[in-house]
Amino acid sequence: MTAERAAELLRGARHGLALTGAGVSAESGIPTFRGEGGVWTRYDPVKVASIEAFLADPAEYWRVSKERGRVALAARPNPGHLALASLEQGGHLVAVVTQNTDGLHRDAGTRRLIELHGSGRTVECLTCGRTEPRADVQARLDVEMPPRCKHCGGAILKPTVVLFGEQMPAAATREAFELAAKTDVMLVVGTSLVVYPAAEVPLLALRSGARMIVVNAEATPFDALAEVVIHGRSGEVLPEIVRLIDG
Ligand code: APR
Repeated sequence: MTAERAAELLRGARHGLALTGAGVSAESGIPTFRGEGGVWTRYDPVKVASIEAFLADPAEYWRVSKERGRVALAARPNPGHLALASLEQGGHLVAVVTQNTDGLHRDAGTRRLIELHGSGRTVECLTCGRTEPRADVQARLDVEMPPRCKHCGGAILKPTVVLFGEQMPAAATREAFELAAKTDVMLVVGTSLVVYPAAEVPLLALRSGARMIVVNAEATPFDALAEVVIHGRSGEVLPEIVRLIDG
């Protein structure tokens, strides 16, 4: 019943919008942050993922980021990413707003992707401002820790991701909030919805009268506000919803 209701809502959506989090990439082998086995159950986010900690000790940041970067660069989209791309191609979603930095939505074919927390696929030099692919930097972490800028030799290379204490990118934030204010169906997938301002997106959508669908492995603080709540794996639930829409 719930997957059918979700399919019905998305089939009729004129301006559907999705918000995703780490859960949509879990089945691609990338650990989530919270919940069972989450990264923040092993590390203190303020110590390893805040801008203050990064600037105080870039080497420590890179030592922790090295493993996560290796896993993310090796990851491939799973059926959940592919289903979201299919919903966009079918006109049921106008965009995917993501908190993820792994790039898997774009690899899966999502065209209009808004990365609220930046991209882990590139690295920028805080000295000269030039960027290079994360894959190139990852390749030299075994011999260069912390990595140095290949353009200017600068000492502080930082992935183009939003760390705790940093602002989200202004253009992406504006676009996400504008879309949320216009959406009629808000599909939330694989996020604990505890980090703001990203979690403002579904709140804005609800305030604009949108109907909300939550697909998550466990309960979220927004479940009571959703018309449809499906507790399950997005890699199984989303393809089922697409099958029901396509009939
Ligand atoms: N399918 C659906 N949901 C899943 C799956 C799955 N296969 N596996 C895990 N989940 C759910 C978990 O139950 C959890 O509620 O995905 C959610 C992931 O929540 P978080 O780990 O908190 O990730 P997210 O909500 O994206 O975190 C937001 O916090 O640390 C910062 O910047 C980081 O972007 C991140 C932000």
